[in-house]
Amino acid sequence: MLFNLFKKDKEKKDNPNQPITLRIREVVRETPEAVTLYFEQPEPYLDYKPGQFLTIILHLDGKEQRRSYSLCTSPFVDPFPGITVKRLSGGLVSNYLNDHMHPGKKLSILPPMGNFVADYHSKHQYHYGMIAAGSGITPIMGLIKSILINEPESKVSLLYGNRREDQIIFYHALDELSKKYQGRLQIVHQLTQPGPQWKGAKGRIVKDNLENFITQLEKSGAADTRYFLCGPEGMMELAKGTLEETGVPNSRVVLEHFHLEKKEESTAEEITDTPITQPVTVFLEGQAYTFDVSPDKTILEAGLEEEIDMPYSCQSGLCTACRGRLISGEVHMDEDAGLSENEIQDGYILCCSSRPKGGEIKINIE
Ligand SMILES: Cc1cc2nc3c(=O)[nH]c(=O)nc-3n(C[C@H](O)[C@H](O)[C@H](O)COP(=O)(O)OP(=O)(O)OC[C@H]3O[C@@H](n4cnc5c(N)ncnc54)[C@H](O)[C@@H]3O)c2cc1C
Ligand code: FES
Repeated sequence: MLFNLFKKDKEKKDNPNQPITLRIREVVRETPEAVTLYFEQPEPYLDYKPGQFLTIILHLDGKEQRRSYSLCTSPFVDPFPGITVKRLSGGLVSNYLNDHMHPGKKLSILPPMGNFVADYHSKHQYHYGMIAAGSGITPIMGLIKSILINEPESKVSLLYGNRREDQIIFYHALDELSKKYQGRLQIVHQLTQPGPQWKGAKGRIVKDNLENFITQLEKSGAADTRYFLCGPEGMMELAKGTLEETGVPNSRVVLEHFHLEKKEESTAEEITDTPITQPVTVFLEGQAYTFDVSPDKTILEAGLEEEIDMPYSCQSGLCTACRGRLISGEVHMDEDAGLSENEIQDGYILCCSSRPKGGEIKINIE
């Protein structure tokens, strides 16, 4: 059955900055460390693209916490939207969501966002290369389901790394998909610490594996290839470098970072010769807000202190929830991994990692 959830109440656009409430319908334990939370459809239905993420807003120990979680479902296939959360050792929200969720519980979320998405067309004859590790499979699962149902002549190859058999999220669901779409979905599981029964690929995903995987795809005779990468930073860097060396243009590669090791923050002196507090004007939902930003603050931090309802999620330059366009002035971005080269050229900045550099800084948040 094909669910076209995009149709419902299309005119009423969700305000990306306005939290909505979702009620948990089902909690599915995928692995000892990962849980999928399926939500009841709100009214109007949740309007999302496969590969996008939700921002979960929790109040824990009196403090607001926001975290991004990718939708693992496809609006073309799945009647209910879901996210999959993997525990992070010592992680506050990932453990809370693994331990304290039950059907009927309500969660506050920001509507779907993100650019880890594909354009589907029934005439496409693409070969998609999906490279994932651990929880990186989450957005890729939604993409795979959507491609297989919307593009009958496209193929998907998945290279998926994990530690052990019992840590493979969606192992059975992926297996069923590969049987249902025989010849169109190929899966290579690779484990670093497999048990004695494991007959599949072993070891870390290294350059050799990536070269083989990419070369086979490039030789597949497909009209076009597209790559989607989501996993730990090291694997993503390696895969990105290997794609570049193989001659695959960046325009055919889409990346989703869940986490990056924090770069050392630039000092005020490195950013500007005159490290002083500067005024910044932000245009948000038809209103202009002018506030001061001191050299030790990002524009988002300063705006939130002024109780301006600026959008944000990860606060680490990855998810683009805080994206704005610089109309005038100059800023310094500590982290811009969430933005594409085109977005940077078009003047987009991330308020959560931007600090004033000079000029009359004006930012339009769309
Ligand atoms: C766009 C986007 C989509 C995401 N989708 C998913 C998803 O589908 N499933 C999922 O499980 N997670 C996803 N994440 C990661 C998620 O948002 C949280 O960062 C993660 O759950 C950790 O939150 P926490 O509160 O448990 O850890 P925290 O308490 O915030 O962090 C604990 C420590 O771990 C470090 N850390 C934080 N995240 C990571 C990480 N991923 N790897 C290594 N170290 C880390 C922190 O720097 C800190 O030192 C996504 C992130 C982004 C930006
Ligand atoms: S809040 Fe995620 S990039 Fe700024």
